[in-house]
Amino acid sequence: MNAARDIVLATRNLRMAFGGLAVFDNLNFELGRGERHAIIGPNGAGKTTFVSLVTGLLTPISGDVEFNGAAITRLSPQQRVKAGIARTFQINTLFRGLNPLESMVLALCERDGRSGQAVTSVSREKPQIDEALAMLERFGLQEGALTLTDMLPYGQQRLLEVALALALKPQVLLLDEPAAGLSTQQGHELFSQLVELTAGTTILFIEHDMNLVFRYAEKVSVLAAGSMVVQDTPDNVRNHPRVREVYLGV
Ligand SMILES: Nc1ncnc2c1ncn2[C@@H]1O[C@H](COP(=O)(O)OP(=O)(O)O)[C@@H](O)[C@H]1O
Ligand SMILES: [Mg+2]
Repeated sequence: MNAARDIVLATRNLRMAFGGLAVFDNLNFELGRGERHAIIGPNGAGKTTFVSLVTGLLTPISGDVEFNGAAITRLSPQQRVKAGIARTFQINTLFRGLNPLESMVLALCERDGRSGQAVTSVSREKPQIDEALAMLERFGLQEGALTLTDMLPYGQQRLLEVALALALKPQVLLLDEPAAGLSTQQGHELFSQLVELTAGTTILFIEHDMNLVFRYAEKVSVLAAGSMVVQDTPDNVRNHPRVREVYLGV
């Protein structure tokens, strides 16, 4: 292992099961600071479960999740967000009935520890509106800023999810299939914007589309049969015999 790699997030001997069904026995993973890192693996391998263990929606049977070297295994999801681990907001559940500007103002309030205030009172505050507008503009979302989010094209909704999570200024951003439901072309647009706009942020993403994975990830981990089979560069992963056998099926 490269001693110079600065590990921001890690799992140590993580064991997880649902009832009698073991998902991982002994999962070890490390995420280097600044990396754009993809996790791939067959359906049902445990990718979403892994994200939930990292964000605190699930608690492992044993083992630890470490953030900046300290165990966070027992922290609540809220505490982990505060510590600097963000995942994409679920637009369709959290922000139904709001427009992107209102949603962004809420996200900024959350970041500043002012959540729980009514949107109407908060949105009178000019600095936050200005910052929200600037953030939307960075993502090319300014035109629909006052359009009900539900009415926006799907690609813009997915982009807004990323913009809202980034507004929290996280140390680590987790994206579980950010391009799901998008065409390949839209997926490329989303990821190229992501790469441009998230420079410096550590990103861990799950993605089905191998074109997107091999093009936009700097590091790829392969989850199969309860463990990380390989963690390497996209080129090495693509050509790894074990990966080709267990995952790519060639
Ligand atoms: N809440 C749950 N209750 C019971 N089984 C679950 C639950 N979540 C996931 N599983 C099972 O755990 C395994 C891993 O699921 P998941 O993490 O969703 O895989 P992936 O995201 O890689 O497709 C699957 O066999 C799935 O059926
Ligand atoms: Mg999944």
